[in-house]
Amino acid sequence: MIAGIWAEDAQGLIGSNGVLPWFLPSELQHFKQTTMGQVILMGRKTFEGMNKRVLPGRTTIVLTRDETYQVDNDSVLVFHSPEAVLNWYYGQDPDTAKDLYVTGGAEMFVAFKTSFNQLYRTIIAGTFEGDTYFPKVLDFENYTEVSSVTHPADEKNDYAFTVKRYENKR
Ligand SMILES: NC(=O)c1ccc[n+]([C@@H]2O[C@H](COP(=O)([O-])OP(=O)(O)OC[C@H]3O[C@@H](n4cnc5c(N)ncnc54)[C@H](OP(=O)(O)O)[C@@H]3O)[C@@H](O)[C@H]2O)c1
Repeated sequence: MIAGIWAEDAQGLIGSNGVLPWFLPSELQHFKQTTMGQVILMGRKTFEGMNKRVLPGRTTIVLTRDETYQVDNDSVLVFHSPEAVLNWYYGQDPDTAKDLYVTGGAEMFVAFKTSFNQLYRTIIAGTFEGDTYFPKVLDFENYTEVSSVTHPADEKNDYAFTVKRYENKR
């Protein structure tokens, strides 16, 4: 199973200067719960925006065209093309293969736009400043919305947000 997972604001913004434009602990918790134990893939810019911090309990794939790029951590795999990632992923034993979550940024959703079985899309009830928008590469007509859960704003989360899950009709 290959899924896209991301959070966007009311205007589709996903990033600002290499990092997330908001701080929403409950949304981060949703990301953690969904991806725990699985494989998460991110672009080199997103990885560096996190100061190369490796999220525990998950295998991380970093995508870069730089053939010399190295990450000194056993739970990080570096790949140089989407095709190489897909070859690796589909080459695993299907009985034990983990799910692959494409976590961004924008260039990763472009690179894997034809590969998603599922989408986890968080829509934040607010507008923020930033420079990176979710790319217009997915036709939501090809997906069925199977759940939609709204988390209200609270003392720790300044904005409400809604997590929508979609399945590819294919
Ligand atoms: N809101 C969210 O859910 C969310 C999630 C993740 C990230 N973000 C935000 O998104 C922003 C970054 O997004 P971005 O689109 O600028 O960058 P990105 O997707 O994180 O990384 C782009 C880099 O990925 C590599 N790359 C892209 N296509 C490739 C391909 N076909 N083959 C091999 N490598 C490839 C290149 O690395 P090299 O230059 O090293 O070759 C490229 O510079 C940040 O602000 C981040 O915080 C938001």
